[in-house]
Amino acid sequence: RGSMTVGETAKLLHKDASEVIKKLITMGVMATINQELDIDTILLLAGEFGVEVEVKIPVDEDSFETVEENDMDEELITRPPVVTIMGHVDHGKTTLLDAIRSTNVTGGEAGGITQHIGAYQVEINHKKITFLDTPGHEAFTAMRARGAQVTDMTIIVVAADDGVMPQTVEAISHAKAAGLPIIVAVNKIDKPGADPDKVKQELTKYELVPEEWGGDTIFVNLSAKQRTGLEDLLEMILLVAEVNEYKANPDKRARGTVIEAELDKNRGPVARILVQHGTLRVGDAFVAGNCFGRVRAMVNDKGRKIKEAGPSTPVEITGLTEVPQAGDPFMAFEDERKARAIADRRSTTQRQSELNINTRVTLDDLFKHI
Ligand code: GTP
Ligand code: MG
Repeated sequence: RGSMTVGETAKLLHKDASEVIKKLITMGVMATINQELDIDTILLLAGEFGVEVEVKIPVDEDSFETVEENDMDEELITRPPVVTIMGHVDHGKTTLLDAIRSTNVTGGEAGGITQHIGAYQVEINHKKITFLDTPGHEAFTAMRARGAQVTDMTIIVVAADDGVMPQTVEAISHAKAAGLPIIVAVNKIDKPGADPDKVKQELTKYELVPEEWGGDTIFVNLSAKQRTGLEDLLEMILLVAEVNEYKANPDKRARGTVIEAELDKNRGPVARILVQHGTLRVGDAFVAGNCFGRVRAMVNDKGRKIKEAGPSTPVEITGLTEVPQAGDPFMAFEDERKARAIADRRSTTQRQSELNINTRVTLDDLFKHI
């Protein structure tokens, strides 16, 4: 709870309600015994009385990275799967993403200029898939280290003329560590010297065994360059999504993750976020990492202004006071003051830990000279 009545506060502070009311008046707050006081006022009040109060912030407000889902089944709707593409350098990740994107621009969207918003959605057989632009292994690891689970499945691209390489193995271990379903896209099958079976053979070492060899890993042969096999890949993604039944409740305040953010010369701080739960609306107050904001405008991956964004939707938002970091959790709040207070508290905590780090560094430096 973010508030308490005057009566409850008095009990907490071991004071009479009348004393508390008097003190509040001296602080410029006219209150009755049943009036709700917010945390900041309670803290001020405690300070006035010289009482120390420890504030335990409920999990769903401050550590919203780890919020538990208590949604009723009937509140949940199927949401698009969120897919990342990983693989070794030059194996064709970008080409594949581009091919998928450009072959799936539907008539209605053709007018919109495709924005680079760190993620985009395609629609196939009336079903949507959200792709995260290849974040690179470092960004992926950083996000995971910070507890941000943004993706539902991973496509591992392996060039059929090159085979399994160090970053292929790295990608596999990332995906496995995150517990993500893996689809192997064997790319560049158009190239002379391409040997898709050799790739399959090599991958059995990493427990990725195709169905025809008795395993349960989905392999798709394709050529991103010639745009063959793309439909197969998309169908397999939808199949994995169907099996895993990815769902979310659209009827609550939005929660998600910052994919990337920057300072725009004209628009100020801009963040590209993935809404993962709930629905984000223009005008919503929110916290992204340590930053407070209020959604001023929202643009989708087709460059269109939108008023609301539901689960698995990537959007670009403006209205932030600062630039958050990639991987920062994002959460909308009904109460702007609460959002501000949480952002403040977080940046104070961060400043303190930075201060500690600096102190440590200084001490280390000192020791070096002794
Ligand atoms: P990094 O982002 O550097 O890790 O590379 P990437 O995995 O994104 O590879 P990218 O898509 O940039 O492709 C690397 C090269 O392979 C480019 O020259 C592509 O044109 C080429 N390429 C990608 N897919 C195919 C394919 O299916 N067939 C052939 N022949 N060439 C391809
Ligand atoms: Mg690339």
